[in-house]
Amino acid sequence: MMYQKAFYDGFLKGEDFMGAEEIGKKIDELLKKMTLEEKTGQLRQCGPSLVGAFEVSFEELLDMMFDGRISKEEFDRLMGTAKQDFREEDLRAGRIGSYNGIGDAETANRLQKIAVEETRLGIPLLFGYDVIHGFRTVTPIPLAESCAWEDGLWERTARLAAEEATAAGVHMTFAPMADVAKDARWGRVSEGAGEDVLLNAHYGASKVRGFQGKELSAPDAMAACVKHFAAYGAVEAGRDYNRVDLSRQKLYEEYLPAYKACIEAGARAVMPAFNDINGVPCSVNKELLRDILREDWGFDGMTVSDANAIAECVTHGIARDKKDAAKQAILAGMDMDMTSDSYHEELISLVESGEVDEKILDEAVSHILRIKFELGLFEHPYRTGAEREREAFLTPEARKLALEAAEKSIVLLKNDGRILPLKKETRIAVFGSMAESAGENTGAWAVGAHPEECVSLLEGLQNEKADVRFYGENMEQIKEAAESADVLLAVLGEHKEESGEAASRADIGLHAEQLSLFEELVATEKPVIVLLMNGRPLAIPEIARKASAVIEGWQLGTEAGNAYARILFGETNPSGKLTVTFPYSSGQCPMYYAHINTGRPGGKSKFTSKYLDTPLEPVYPFGFGLSYTEFSYDALSVEKSGAGVTIRISVKNVGDIPGEEVVQCYYSRRTAKRVGPVRKLAAYQKLFLEPGETEKVVFELKKEDLGYYDKDMNYVTDLEDMVFYAGTNSQDTLEQAL
Ligand code: NOJ
Repeated sequence: MMYQKAFYDGFLKGEDFMGAEEIGKKIDELLKKMTLEEKTGQLRQCGPSLVGAFEVSFEELLDMMFDGRISKEEFDRLMGTAKQDFREEDLRAGRIGSYNGIGDAETANRLQKIAVEETRLGIPLLFGYDVIHGFRTVTPIPLAESCAWEDGLWERTARLAAEEATAAGVHMTFAPMADVAKDARWGRVSEGAGEDVLLNAHYGASKVRGFQGKELSAPDAMAACVKHFAAYGAVEAGRDYNRVDLSRQKLYEEYLPAYKACIEAGARAVMPAFNDINGVPCSVNKELLRDILREDWGFDGMTVSDANAIAECVTHGIARDKKDAAKQAILAGMDMDMTSDSYHEELISLVESGEVDEKILDEAVSHILRIKFELGLFEHPYRTGAEREREAFLTPEARKLALEAAEKSIVLLKNDGRILPLKKETRIAVFGSMAESAGENTGAWAVGAHPEECVSLLEGLQNEKADVRFYGENMEQIKEAAESADVLLAVLGEHKEESGEAASRADIGLHAEQLSLFEELVATEKPVIVLLMNGRPLAIPEIARKASAVIEGWQLGTEAGNAYARILFGETNPSGKLTVTFPYSSGQCPMYYAHINTGRPGGKSKFTSKYLDTPLEPVYPFGFGLSYTEFSYDALSVEKSGAGVTIRISVKNVGDIPGEEVVQCYYSRRTAKRVGPVRKLAAYQKLFLEPGETEKVVFELKKEDLGYYDKDMNYVTDLEDMVFYAGTNSQDTLEQAL
């Protein structure tokens, strides 16, 4: 065990962690001792920069590979020669407060030792990392996992991620992403809980609870950094990093509540988004970072910019130069600068010249110090070591949970003639190269993952002792395959780099070669089962029409292949429900269930709100998902209760196997002071029902959760003229006026 400098011995009280008041005092004591350089150092987050046999920056090198100036092999070779530079001289001088992207205990402890033992004040470092959906054990991408509609599961997988990541030295994760995402073209749809605000709020809050655990100072607790504040999901045309232009009503009703729920769940950090809102980039947006976050919501944790985002305010055209950007950001309430070095280069002179009051700097520093105290880093700067790291990863319990999460994320979209589940003796011909690739299942954001530890679909089928032949993309063998197989299984969708950050797509249909493979399979007249692997909703009308069965398999992580196989053979009954709408075509984007009423709702008549060349309804609506059993809904009742409305509905499993059903409750207003959504999710509950079993579900809805903002931004919570709906998805419901 290593110890921090004797400097702290005087004021540390044994193993007891400090309360807020005591932390406040310690912060003040430290601030008195700190130089301007040490203060700005605390606000600086560095990533390891790469140095080596190339003269250009890492970003430039990446560009060179993408635009073909160098091959992938050459890129890999150069990367292999690169060393990481941690700017240790700066660290020793107290000019670095935090690192991003270090995911191993040895490096973290080595750097921490420098901070604690060799800097003048011995202030420990804070290590941040993108732990988005698991660390070494990879759980489903957030969009997939949101389809489980199960808060407890979301929390448990976050806890697992924290246990593993903290063993590798991580103190804070840049998650959850609470960005409501209604536009399927946006690649980062994959990183959140889909298009609905309530689901994003529940998902985000559950993740915060799971990451942070009961006590932030525990060695396996990881601070949650909610991102991207705010409304990053509303980027125009779904193009990443693009502008956001929103009415205040829309911002407050549809986007802010999910971040707020995360803050209420105790999230200790917030990452402002890259985008602007109505012309002001979030990185320098005082209204967001001070007025809403701190004043209205009472947040007292830290804010950290997105990567380089402060300096990018110059490119945005809101700051003259880096100095101006640094000034605007700190005045707006941005505490830490992730990797742009704007604070490092400019803050001291800004304070010395009086352009930034030292009090503002102190306030930002105090937010960083507070989280370090709360994490117990002053007492225990080394929360892990090689032994803990070895024991923490990929335990049997972790794999079990990853399998459970993967199974619950799968959404059965079509099952004609109940072709699924398959019998064990069914001869299966598998097409599509993603079937054999375990790495595809990790999704775009599993930074700590080892792809070889993931189970591919083919391995999953082998584990089930299935009768399988694999043909990859080999179209010549389709005829032969069809003759010797009972069903054709086509694995289609997107490769993992096609969703996630910087992966927006203008066309969210299947690639042409996948479509022609599919058409040829259909032409054999053998039943075709499509398993989709993808990180966003896809426009797949042909698949929906012609396939015998469609399984939405997303990117499910370590246990993906086993989960697919267990669903295919009915060892697990599918229960996932979509948290995003699947449109007919890309041109319909953004398409979402909670769209706003018009004066001419789409219909048969020409002069109504619709497209000439696509149907009105989506291919698969929000909330949709089938099971191998069936559920019937009956006896919806709606009545006013003291605090709001009570909804009752009875649900019966009318099939012959047990199954889980997500019961969904929506509402709308016939008239209001502003036009509103045609329906909006109010509550949900997941049930497990044996065959023949009935359960009465009761939703107690509070008035204040059903409100909206009028044109003057008053929050209206009356219950006038409301209609409530309950059922199996956003379209198939019973309804009752209040
Ligand atoms: C950029 C991304 O927008 C953000 O989500 C991520 O946390 C940071 N980079 C750090 O890697």
